[in-house]
Amino acid sequence: MNSSSLHRFFLDAFQGPQLVEIFSPGRANVIGEHTDYNGGFVLPFAIDRGITFLANKSISKKTKIIAFDLDEAVSFEKALIGPSYPWMRYLTNALEVLNAKGFVSKGFNLLFGGNLPIGAGVSSSSALSCGFIKTLDALFDFGLTKEQIVLFASLAENGTGVQGGMMDQHAIVHGEKEACLFIDCENRHIEKVAMPQNEKHQWVLFNTGVEHNLADTEYNKRRKECDEALTIIQEKKGKALTFRQLKDSDLTSLEDSKLKQRITHYISENERVKKMLVAFKKNDINLILHLLNDSHESLSKRYEVSCEELDYVQSALMKENYGGRMMGGGFGGCVISYLAKKDFKVFTQKISVTFKSKFGLTLKAFPIKASEGLRLV
Ligand code: GLA
Repeated sequence: MNSSSLHRFFLDAFQGPQLVEIFSPGRANVIGEHTDYNGGFVLPFAIDRGITFLANKSISKKTKIIAFDLDEAVSFEKALIGPSYPWMRYLTNALEVLNAKGFVSKGFNLLFGGNLPIGAGVSSSSALSCGFIKTLDALFDFGLTKEQIVLFASLAENGTGVQGGMMDQHAIVHGEKEACLFIDCENRHIEKVAMPQNEKHQWVLFNTGVEHNLADTEYNKRRKECDEALTIIQEKKGKALTFRQLKDSDLTSLEDSKLKQRITHYISENERVKKMLVAFKKNDINLILHLLNDSHESLSKRYEVSCEELDYVQSALMKENYGGRMMGGGFGGCVISYLAKKDFKVFTQKISVTFKSKFGLTLKAFPIKASEGLRLV
């Protein structure tokens, strides 16, 4: 789907002019995985793939929404009643959050579509929620700040059952061209970090095609385990501590080896994010790859959020002296790698064949670029 076919479709489907066009990108994350909800460091960026929203105000009181790529549509007058599509849950929640905050919309027509894989760990759900809120903001002049969009989108998403952190929404809303965002999730401080100056390499995603569904997996369980570990350490130490204050020496307070592993991942992943900043500055490719591989090992073995297919792609990269790691919530989705442009085609062809014969799945590889965040087109 390209933007001009979306425009044509909109004009055919709805009366009146199209008033707003919003682009909401997906996000990648260089490093800092499963740390955001515990106030850790992350290094994400908005990517050059996303969802386009076209909308105008409805002449009647009716609202009509079409999901172009899925060929699904809903229409309603006050509130949507009855069963709905999975994507509509995010929009319904967002409408509820906006209403509760006093931002009330009237009837509207909306068409959205794009090139972001669903359930692949590139945060299609945050792109959807942020983009939808921004579209209504532009249509009804709510005057929302970036921080309000981040907050309302994450409330809408949490309403679907996944207790996610706010890395994805921050990356999507604040994304910048050719830069990552170093976010301290404890105080939400965001620093723009230039991508390593290296013409010969590019960021690549390998989509395993294993769809993750964070609510159905262990995501919320990991959060609980971390909270449990922190409580035990606090009780043993007799003082209140934040996750960020934890040190390796605190691990002796934990008898349960699983809990120990979870916190070890958290502490070590924060360290890796800081080291990645150094690697970026020095343009040290070996260090970048080494940190990606280490992060994967920790996510797979200590945090246990990987899967066979992700491990397979990552180890194939490592065997060829490249590097990569699972990205996002895990249990499926993508591996991110920093790969020499000249090696991309050959490596992809080779691994796609073995991946298909081993798992029966089509591995899809595509380069990504750090791009501007959520925007009015
Ligand atoms: C999902 C969540 C994020 C973050 C990542 C893991 O993408 O939405 O908040 O926790 O998983 O780093």
